[in-house]
Amino acid sequence: MDAKTGWLAPAVPEHHLDGPPTTVQDILRGDAIPPAATLRETTDYVPPVKPLSLSRYVSPAFHQLEIEHMWGRVWQFAAWTFDIPNPGDSTVYDIAGRSAVIVRQADGSLKAFENSCPHRGRKLCTEDAHIKQIRCPYHAFTWGIDGTCRWIPAAWDFPQLDREDLPLREVQVDVWNGFIFVNFDPDAKPLAQYLGKMVDQWQEWDFTKTRFRAVTAGKACNANWKAVLDAFIETLHVTGTHPEAAYLTSDTSTQYDVWPDEPHFSRFHSPVGLPSANLLSEPDEQETLDMFTSMYLPEAHGTPEGELQDGETARAAIGRLSREVYKDRMGVDATRLPNSEVIDGTEYMVFPNMIVWPSFSNPLVYRFRPGKTHDTSYWEISLFIPFEGERPPSGEVYHLQDGDKLADVPYFGGLGAILDQDVENLQYIQEGMTANSSGVVHTARYQEQRIRHYHQTLDRYLDGTI
Ligand SMILES: [Fe+2]
Repeated sequence: MDAKTGWLAPAVPEHHLDGPPTTVQDILRGDAIPPAATLRETTDYVPPVKPLSLSRYVSPAFHQLEIEHMWGRVWQFAAWTFDIPNPGDSTVYDIAGRSAVIVRQADGSLKAFENSCPHRGRKLCTEDAHIKQIRCPYHAFTWGIDGTCRWIPAAWDFPQLDREDLPLREVQVDVWNGFIFVNFDPDAKPLAQYLGKMVDQWQEWDFTKTRFRAVTAGKACNANWKAVLDAFIETLHVTGTHPEAAYLTSDTSTQYDVWPDEPHFSRFHSPVGLPSANLLSEPDEQETLDMFTSMYLPEAHGTPEGELQDGETARAAIGRLSREVYKDRMGVDATRLPNSEVIDGTEYMVFPNMIVWPSFSNPLVYRFRPGKTHDTSYWEISLFIPFEGERPPSGEVYHLQDGDKLADVPYFGGLGAILDQDVENLQYIQEGMTANSSGVVHTARYQEQRIRHYHQTLDRYLDGTI
């Protein structure tokens, strides 16, 4: 018996050795409302199973390779379009020594510029702001928000520089589903091509009409950015890290999808309302429902509605109650939405630095960035909450200090408490990887395939084959 949880026995249940006992497709077929078409699709492809070299996480030289060969060439998630809605609104995106300033133009379009003065190189913008021009704080060289040079101080003393020939250098910028991406490579192919089939898979999840950014929390991590990313693209860790959640979300039934011809995204779908196969003694349906309502739907906990109705499964009841609570909490009518969107967790990763969940219950968007050293990184977690009617304004951005809990950030609540459990691992993942003399780590063939998938993509950037 595990001292911390009181329920988890150390033995592996026999039935778990045979593979997932229930598939996501079995579960979704049992739902009253069918899921989005893309979630009825599964893939057979699994990236080859081989150990991952630890140097990828613990070596300053590998960190340098990523900066030289990857970060300058990929589309990366930089901002949310509704955070800079008006002409002159600007936001700064810093990444691994590079920096871009993204500015809303007079015609509503976006431009991004290299955030460095062409004169002596000072960083031009250091914070998000509404601007009428871009003026270097060092010598006051000035550009319009369209990047054309407006003023050179003491122009007579720069016979070699012509205003017309001194625009800010543009960085590629594009938008998918309201998310602004930049690419520092002027020759990069378009974002839509980079995202591939993911664009079609998201047809039914239009964030530009349905979601607002309610809050963002940023956290400095003492771990390589990939070690942080890895902690969120599998549910194998639920039993170990989030033992209570193992009652409610079938980590062992999660479906993982990786496409061999799609290097830049992968996904999982994790069903809610049925317990993990890792549990030696499974709770009954009412116990599952009670645990769920006590954690996530306190409005319904202990009420007559919070009881199973005739012939109802815990999953169906969680769906029913969630729809009611979402109506009250957010004014959103989810009655026609499938369980897959209302209670489950669908999660997409966009290589290299974004995770986005289209489901209501985990309305999360993550951004990962390396720090100044190989063993530090910055992780930002935003809640993109559903709305109906007029778009609410974007919310606050909090920069958490050591010891600050995500659970204490407005809106985060129970989700924040779960993420705090993940945070507890991060520093020790990095320390353990550094202390590991074997040189490698191992990944589960199926459940951790997304980790190998993006490492494969990373390798292709490093060796120049992509
Ligand atoms: Fe987790």
